[in-house]
Amino acid sequence: MTKKEKSAELVNKYVHVFSCPICKSPMKVTHLKSLVCLNNHTFDFAKQGYVNMMTRSANSHYDKELFKARQKVIMESNLFALLHKRISEIIIGNMNALKGEIIIFDAGCGEGSHLQRILDECKNETFAGIGLDISKEGIRMAASKYKETAWLVGDLANSPLADQSCHYILNILSPANYKEFKRTLVPNGLVIKVVPRSNYLKELREALFDNTDKSSYKNDETVSLFNHHFHLVDVLNLSYIKKLTQTELINLVQMSPLTWNTSEDDIDRIINRGISEVTVDLDILVGINKLTQGGRI
Ligand SMILES: C[S@@+](CC[C@H](N)C(=O)[O-])C[C@H]1O[C@@H](n2cnc3c(N)ncnc32)[C@H](O)[C@@H]1O
Ligand SMILES: [Zn+2]
Repeated sequence: MTKKEKSAELVNKYVHVFSCPICKSPMKVTHLKSLVCLNNHTFDFAKQGYVNMMTRSANSHYDKELFKARQKVIMESNLFALLHKRISEIIIGNMNALKGEIIIFDAGCGEGSHLQRILDECKNETFAGIGLDISKEGIRMAASKYKETAWLVGDLANSPLADQSCHYILNILSPANYKEFKRTLVPNGLVIKVVPRSNYLKELREALFDNTDKSSYKNDETVSLFNHHFHLVDVLNLSYIKKLTQTELINLVQMSPLTWNTSEDDIDRIINRGISEVTVDLDILVGINKLTQGGRI
């Protein structure tokens, strides 16, 4: 069986979760080749094992090099191991409130390593992962590495998923669309959003921006917007320092949108500055639909 057929077969297992991003009607998999809706809108599986469900063209700043670096930082340097552990604990801790097959949807999954790590950490074969990103490069990379998850190129502001289809929505360091999250979340399902806190990658930002305003993140507005849409059941602060080798530092510099407008010379300067550790400082916001009765974590 080809990669394309395997991914079509995987999507077919929970095809009821999908809905057409154009007309919102239910979908089916035909000939292990395409996802087709009742009105015949057709999305073909790519040979790399993902399906492109974009309904408009979109440019992403995120390129292959950035995603490769992110993959190394997540999978090899294990910079986010504690984050994955905490998120899987939250998922397992809420399981009693849910029934049947569990869908974990990563909205803005990039190259897919966070979702893979979280699924590994949960160690539950009944969990089905769906990763979606607007970047074809990211999804192509995810599909080529992680075979047990459905990978979609798509827009999280118009996601190709049915109403009340997801048990968990992960949204890690990515933009959100709360209207869509509310629509697609089951009652008692959770949104788990990861946002940077003021010291996130501070060593890198200090080296890049010296003392300008850009050197610190503020997430108050993000938290209050989240709180406006969801009942905030928990906020977990995760703060730690990790030692880095020179190679790990290079990957870190390359994985970060912080360096988008930085010249090659400045990047070399940062790398040669000999930063030997980096701070991870994140908030994990856990929310439940406000309409949910008796929801708990
Ligand atoms: C900082 S990256 C984070 C990626 C991944 N969650 C991680 O932490 O490695 C932000 C991601 O959001 C994606 N993104 C931005 N707008 C999006 C949209 N409207 N729909 C889906 N993905 C989007 C980008 O393509 C990018 O992969
Ligand atoms: Zn349709």
